[in-house]
Amino acid sequence: EREAACEKDLKGKKILVTAGPTQESVDPVRYLTNHSSGKMGYAIAKAAMLRGADVTLVSGRTSIEPPMFVNLIPVVTARDMYEAVTSVSNEQDIIIKAAAVADYRPARISEEKVKKSDGQMSIELERTDDILKFLGEHKQHGQFLCGFSMETQNVIDNSRAKLAKKNLDMVAANNVKVEGAGFQGDTNVLTLITQDEEISLPLMSKEDAAFRILDKILSLMQDSVC
Ligand code: CTP
Ligand code: CA
Repeated sequence: EREAACEKDLKGKKILVTAGPTQESVDPVRYLTNHSSGKMGYAIAKAAMLRGADVTLVSGRTSIEPPMFVNLIPVVTARDMYEAVTSVSNEQDIIIKAAAVADYRPARISEEKVKKSDGQMSIELERTDDILKFLGEHKQHGQFLCGFSMETQNVIDNSRAKLAKKNLDMVAANNVKVEGAGFQGDTNVLTLITQDEEISLPLMSKEDAAFRILDKILSLMQDSVC
């Protein structure tokens, strides 16, 4: 079994993983969110723990059990996640941002429940801070930064643009429309994109994908030391 046999090749490394969706309140009853289950991020956190890393998991609300032996920091909103992440990011060797962070939040949260009326209604939204972009702008010496990218079209080009724009070392890209990939299921179909490479992983469990992501990160970090 993998859990017992695991080589402790991440021993001594501090790894920060973010996972799950964020929730942005509209009023005391309602919120805006997305379909993220948290499974991919939790699988990465667990794999890193099994390989001996010191793992911090910043997680939005999910319905799955967090892995044991990780430092869990629960958050709700994109702003909460920004604060939790940036308060521990400087000391991390590796940061993997699997969370599905809201890009927009309601400009105002109504104190009272919004009552319906006839006809259409709209909610004014404002931008949230891009946590990963901030981390790329403040990347520590030797720190490895891995983002995720969720697309429905032009997956590779759009993901390469995120790699460059956010100053990342790797992007794990997926196409939500591909069978067996994306948010809710137990499997994923990822392409690992770096400056020099594109590695298309076949359909596999999120657990296996987590191991492959960590394998790639570790080998890239070892390359850059030599
Ligand atoms: N991300 C983040 N903070 C945000 C939005 C996104 O840290 N406010 C991170 C995600 O955790 C993910 C990466 O940025 O690792 C890419 O997220 P994605 O939604 O695919 O791309 P965006 O840059 O937000 O662009 P768009 O949604 O327009 O494709
Ligand atoms: Ca986004």
